[in-house]
Amino acid sequence: MSPFDFATLVVVDDTDRVEVRLNRPEKRNAINKQMVDELNALLDDLEANPTRVLILTGGEDGVFAAGADIAELYERRRDDALAAINLSLFERIRRYPLPTIAAVDGHALGGGAELAYACDLRVASDRAAFGQPETRLGIMAAAGGCYRLAQLVGESLATEMLFTGRRLRGEDALAAGLVSRVVVASELLATARELTDEIVKSSPLALRLTKLALHAPSTAHPAVDILSQALLFEDDEKMTRMREFLERR
Ligand code: COA
Repeated sequence: MSPFDFATLVVVDDTDRVEVRLNRPEKRNAINKQMVDELNALLDDLEANPTRVLILTGGEDGVFAAGADIAELYERRRDDALAAINLSLFERIRRYPLPTIAAVDGHALGGGAELAYACDLRVASDRAAFGQPETRLGIMAAAGGCYRLAQLVGESLATEMLFTGRRLRGEDALAAGLVSRVVVASELLATARELTDEIVKSSPLALRLTKLALHAPSTAHPAVDILSQALLFEDDEKMTRMREFLERR
């Protein structure tokens, strides 16, 4: 039984993973303030004891998230934008200590796409469609789209998507490196869970430090890699895992 009782999220909490389904189907999972607040509340809990992989999904019904809630965006003004409500949440997800996976079926648009970009890994259905239609609404992709998308797919394709709203669909998203796997929609969640099964076979501390090293700015290398490895060389779990390997021989 999950201790999490949210209106916009369905949370399945397990010992080594937590699966979060965005749950505003009547609004195509548009990300409103309530959803942001509930995701932040969930992260408050998860970060207090970061032992679980985080899976974010819209389920297998054909929509991940249709972006930030446009009815709310319409009311927001300069100071709301400066408060960076969505960006702060997405950056928090990006910094979540353990691996995060977005399992994307159908539309991942605007803030919905940026939420997926904030995750470490993306698995998609063949009918997933990532896109940044913000400029068509007179705003810009300011919650990660203008920097994270280019990191993921390269500047040329990111620029085209940001300028034209071009959507990148399943196989094209795979070819561009935006996602690491594409499957039929009915296998999406099973695939994300299998990926999680593989991840959780690793040492949690090794995963955490690998994530820190992956995110470190280029000027921090190789120092961050050397220091992280030094910490791991002193970790009991490294001794146990290597001893088990050697004794099996
Ligand atoms: N914000 C607020 N409401 C949204 C929304 C969003 N981003 N996306 C969809 N909705 C709402 C619609 O207003 C509609 O509400 P209603 O039933 O009360 O009228 C409901 O969700 C269903 O939307 P609809 O467009 O009829 O669904 P669809 O399945 O035909 O199309 C999309 C789905 C995602 C293609 C389409 O809704 C869409 O283009 N949404 C906006 C995407 C966007 O521009 N996002 C960027 C925001 S920065």
